[in-house]
Amino acid sequence: MITVGVVGYGVIGRRVADAVSAQPDMQVIGVVKKKPDYKAKLAISKGFSVYAADGESRKMFEDAGLQISGEIKDLVSEVDIVVDASPGKVGASNRDVYRSLGKKVIYQGGEPADVADLSFVAQCNFEKAEGKSSVRVVSCNTTGLCRLLNALDTNFGIDKARVVIIRRATDPDEPGKGIIDAVSLDPVHIPSHHGLDVNTVLPHVKIITTAVKIPTTHMHVHTLMISLKDSTATKDQVIDVLNGTTRILLISSKDGFKSTGQVFDYARELGRWRSDMYELVVWKDSINIIDGEIYLYMGVGQEAIVIPEVVDAIRALIGGYTRDESISMTNKTLNILKYKA
Ligand SMILES: NC(=O)c1ccc[n+]([C@@H]2O[C@H](COP(=O)([O-])OP(=O)(O)OC[C@H]3O[C@@H](n4cnc5c(N)ncnc54)[C@H](OP(=O)(O)O)[C@@H]3O)[C@@H](O)[C@H]2O)c1
Repeated sequence: MITVGVVGYGVIGRRVADAVSAQPDMQVIGVVKKKPDYKAKLAISKGFSVYAADGESRKMFEDAGLQISGEIKDLVSEVDIVVDASPGKVGASNRDVYRSLGKKVIYQGGEPADVADLSFVAQCNFEKAEGKSSVRVVSCNTTGLCRLLNALDTNFGIDKARVVIIRRATDPDEPGKGIIDAVSLDPVHIPSHHGLDVNTVLPHVKIITTAVKIPTTHMHVHTLMISLKDSTATKDQVIDVLNGTTRILLISSKDGFKSTGQVFDYARELGRWRSDMYELVVWKDSINIIDGEIYLYMGVGQEAIVIPEVVDAIRALIGGYTRDESISMTNKTLNILKYKA
């Protein structure tokens, strides 16, 4: 069994802890929390050992009368590998602890790319993690873009991709950060950082991205315009390629999927933890080719899309698995499916 420590038990950490626990070859040794709130109590009630983020956090747990198993360094010293799911940029400040104890680490997309040896998306570069001591699973938007662009680039060659990203304002558990009545240009300058982040995984793909935030909490939506090197590509060929690509789910407005609302409703029916949507969803009937350029809409479930990538990153760093073996184990345990649109 690969022993795993999950540092951070928020939006990503809670999902990682459950997904890792579902793997036949992995075991969660404990999770790190800063505050002794309901999420800490949930972790304890699920049987996870909880560790404090630091000395100040330990004192908060003691004052609240919640039993902990130690601090972050105690957890890290016990495990084969750490998944750092602390808030953006905090992972980089935890790096010295991981390095001093000689542990392999998976960071998240909120960290700078140079925090780790490799920016990671399983289906794009699983093999490159071999022998590395750390990887950064890229952000939710970058993960979705990499899955799609890698498939199209491999099959048709991408000349240039242009993407407009419509982002959810905040996650459901952080209403204080939300926009109530505005469309926020975030960032105002063009391009946004997302295209540059795609290039940390797919350096050869030419891409320009822009991003705005809107008052919603479920899913990002992207509008893509992609010119191909292969000018003979047809719409049906593009659909076949996306249908054959793991972790991409084609949906259709003919089945009633006309907004993120129906995608979220569908996800609730799948019976997964927290209505999670691990797949990148692509509206099949949005796909069109005009003057050699592909146009399409896609949706990114921001809370869940990176979770299978984190599980695969654990196997990629530990070694001894092929990409296909790992992806298929992860897909099976997380019930990642192919819907026939
Ligand atoms: N949310 C998303 O949609 C999303 C999607 C993809 C990637 N990511 C990336 O994933 C990472 C985590 O994001 P998140 O949304 O899961 O954040 P989050 O919900 O704020 O959770 C962060 C967790 O880290 C804990 N923490 C705080 N300070 C810490 C410290 N010094 N050391 C260790 N743990 C500490 C927090 O404890 P308390 O709860 O006690 O404060 C919390 O449990 C970020 O890099 C983010 O960019 C997020």
